[in-house]
Amino acid sequence: MTAAPLSGRHILLVIAGGIAAYKALELIRRLKDGGARVRCVLTKAGAEFVTPLSVAALSGEKVHQELLSLTDESEMGHIRLARESDLIVVAPATADILARMAAGMANDLATAILLATDKPVLAAPAMNVEMWAKPVTQRNVAQLAADGIQFIGPSAGDLACGETGAGRMTEPADILARVEALLAAPVQSLAGKTALVTSGPTREAIDPVRYIGNYSSGKQGHAIAAALARRGAHVTLVTGPTAQPDPAGVTVRHVETGREMLEAVEHAMPVDIAVFAAAVADWRAAEPMAVKTKKSGETPRLALVENPDILATVAKAGPKRPALVIGFAAETESNAEALIGRAQQKRAAKNCDWVIANDVSPGTQVLGGARNTVHVVSANGAESWPTLDKREVAERLVERIAAALPARAPAA
Ligand code: C5P
Repeated sequence: MTAAPLSGRHILLVIAGGIAAYKALELIRRLKDGGARVRCVLTKAGAEFVTPLSVAALSGEKVHQELLSLTDESEMGHIRLARESDLIVVAPATADILARMAAGMANDLATAILLATDKPVLAAPAMNVEMWAKPVTQRNVAQLAADGIQFIGPSAGDLACGETGAGRMTEPADILARVEALLAAPVQSLAGKTALVTSGPTREAIDPVRYIGNYSSGKQGHAIAAALARRGAHVTLVTGPTAQPDPAGVTVRHVETGREMLEAVEHAMPVDIAVFAAAVADWRAAEPMAVKTKKSGETPRLALVENPDILATVAKAGPKRPALVIGFAAETESNAEALIGRAQQKRAAKNCDWVIANDVSPGTQVLGGARNTVHVVSANGAESWPTLDKREVAERLVERIAAALPARAPAA
């Protein structure tokens, strides 16, 4: 008989105050069935939704609730709770606890543990659709992701509040699968490897106050850089102007134009892995004006010249070529077959190993949005992935990179 996948592992489950807290009870049961020891921390609001008695009965452990408890601090202080687990899961992760985590607060037992821990943290957000969509929540999630917190969900559907949209906590079975993957993953599977990622848009000046740009948010490229770094790769991220925070443990070069991006990329070479997620302006003004152009009654004509193709330059770089070169093909093309066909052409034309093809038509809300639907196109054909959070696309892609790389020679 094979051992249970979580046998001997310690999970600390933080249950915050949301209606999805009832699903945390099932998560406890599933984690225990998987062989894990599960200790639970219930926030004050969490205890309004599930009782400490249910949590204790299901986990078979004392439930921890108070930061400054006379008995708990001597028996099991928050520092010990924070350290004596292999993984901390926050489920449900409400808007409130995410905000407190992002601000580095430690005003209750749960946040004190999350601040004190040196272990990986997986958060499963659950909240009302508007709360999830609020810029402040998205900022907090982006900051936490950059700080190394991992996320699963939320998914879209009917919410307990009667509204419909993104905000449902991921089902316990799927959280369990992610927990197993996180604990099973050879965490440092890319240790000793070097990687380069481009991300975000570029800005090409027309005059001192105007530029050619695009809607790229940098979310996908930044998430890939963070995921590569988490697996131990030495990562350089070359990014155009974005609102994304710099990912933890990554060397970040901020650039503005396509030509600056090429220069920073060449400076980071040679590398083993190169992922080109940036939306580089294909053209720039041939002669940017030194002063702001004024209306003169005539419609001005803007002469453009082509920008260097950074991906193609690196992918054709002879002996310096990275072992694995991955490009993106963003098209306003909703027919998957045509999209994949174009991606195959691009793969050949630019000499890259894989092309990640996605439809960025306005209705898809991929450009600037949180989710992405991609097709991974390689010499072996195309594999279509379901619509996923961009961070989950990054995780899967990096897992695939780690699996593909050992078969190849390291960079010179
Ligand atoms: O040709 P297209 O712009 O669709 O190619 C997209 C891919 O090429 C992306 O991976 C993008 O990052 C990369 N690219 C680049 N430099 C350019 C244009 C695109 O690296 N000037």
